[in-house]
Amino acid sequence: MRFRIIKLVDGGAYGDIYEGHDDDLDRPVAIKVIRPSVGDSEFLLNQAKALARIDSPNVVRVIAIAKVVDPGNEERVPAIVMDWLDGKTLQALLHPPALALSEARRIGLGVIDGLTAIHAQDISHSDLHAGNVIVGKNSVKVIDILYFSTLANKSTMSKRLRFQGDYADLQRLLHRLLQHSDLPVSAVDQFIHGLKPESTIADIRESFEQATDPSVAHRAQLSQAIDRVSDSEFVDTPEYANALSADTPDHVVRPLILEMIKAALATPNHQHYLTLLWKRLAVPDRDVVTRSLATAIDREVPGGNWLPHIAMLAAFRRTGWNSLPDTTRLRLENAITKDVLNGYIDIHRRGENKAGRLGAYAAKFCYYFTQRDALVANLLERLQQGWFTQNYVATHFMSCLPDLAETTTARRKFIEALGSAYRNDSRILKQNFDELPEDWRQEIIAKAKGD
Ligand SMILES: Nc1ncnc2c1ncn2[C@@H]1O[C@H](COP(=O)(O)OP(=O)(O)OP(=O)(O)O)[C@@H](O)[C@H]1O
Ligand SMILES: [Mg+2]
Repeated sequence: MRFRIIKLVDGGAYGDIYEGHDDDLDRPVAIKVIRPSVGDSEFLLNQAKALARIDSPNVVRVIAIAKVVDPGNEERVPAIVMDWLDGKTLQALLHPPALALSEARRIGLGVIDGLTAIHAQDISHSDLHAGNVIVGKNSVKVIDILYFSTLANKSTMSKRLRFQGDYADLQRLLHRLLQHSDLPVSAVDQFIHGLKPESTIADIRESFEQATDPSVAHRAQLSQAIDRVSDSEFVDTPEYANALSADTPDHVVRPLILEMIKAALATPNHQHYLTLLWKRLAVPDRDVVTRSLATAIDREVPGGNWLPHIAMLAAFRRTGWNSLPDTTRLRLENAITKDVLNGYIDIHRRGENKAGRLGAYAAKFCYYFTQRDALVANLLERLQQGWFTQNYVATHFMSCLPDLAETTTARRKFIEALGSAYRNDSRILKQNFDELPEDWRQEIIAKAKGD
């Protein structure tokens, strides 16, 4: 006997599916054993001939109707032998994470082509759903054509009605497929609203092709992403950023960031999300982004609407800072360092302390600065000046002061200045005191009490 059963894959209503082997050609096959109740062998043979006529890359190929040995009772039973397909059922793919649009398009068009080929042979599928589509890396195949759809009870149904049933199933399947893709809801709705119950396969194909057309769909995805970052309720947590990033298609990442630069949309709330997006960019795309960001920074700093651009740059961290053009970087470093000298915080006027806001970013960027001693000098100047300026330093710089004090002289000067601020009862210094390392705290208190 040519075909041999190896193991059960799935038990169905009409028959069991086995993984099997074709001993003549030495290749794996799928074997569907037909339950005796279903039909006589002549009927089966006719069905197999019809199925074998379907010659499409999107429909599983029937190799033969053959007798195989049923492992259950050692009897010889009739079976339909098909190509073995590697892959997963579409049903198994309709779970998070969302399918990329291009993948959804490939699968959908494959199913449409498969059904078209089946109908071209005057056969209806009659059980088209996501469990009956197998998706491989490079293939999409419709399986499980209801071989018995022309049996007595069905044969009275007109061909038109049976085909119409397939079209309704196809619409449902494609709708679910798009709902599980990263196509925006608005575009999915457009697909389904464009169709009627009596739509033909040509209508369905046209609507599906339109909805998943990259140039149309990409625009819809980008505008959805822009809407999300423009939302004033944008949640600033890492969890939200993760979920949103997972929901942001690859091809949207770069245009979205460029749009955020153009429209100056970034805020500190976008920090986590922008960090994730930046990590997803390839180096050439990063260059495009930082070139655009550098132009915006050069134009706006100092004195303009620089906050969105600096907030974005901060999210890009060291790699972002380093890929700025040298001129922009040095100019920005200089502007930030100088702005420290404007910094003060009047603790009685909360929310109105805009002075030194650019300088406050020194705490984020100082690790990448080339001229740290200029910053150290300016911070010392602030610490020595008075209550408001001491509070400014204490608000933004506590955790980076130890890092900035690279020389023992700088360290000694910081401790001295912080000691006077402590004695001066700098409110915020005392509030944030824990951010300093233990040895600093002890020396500062000793300074404040002592000399
Ligand atoms: N050609 C094949 N290659 C690999 N796996 C297959 C093949 N055909 C079917 N399978 C596997 O077996 C499962 C069931 O197959 P199929 O849909 O043909 O039968 P069924 O739905 O159980 O049967 P029926 O609807 O006739 O009761 C599929 O989901 C798939 O996992
Ligand atoms: Mg099935």
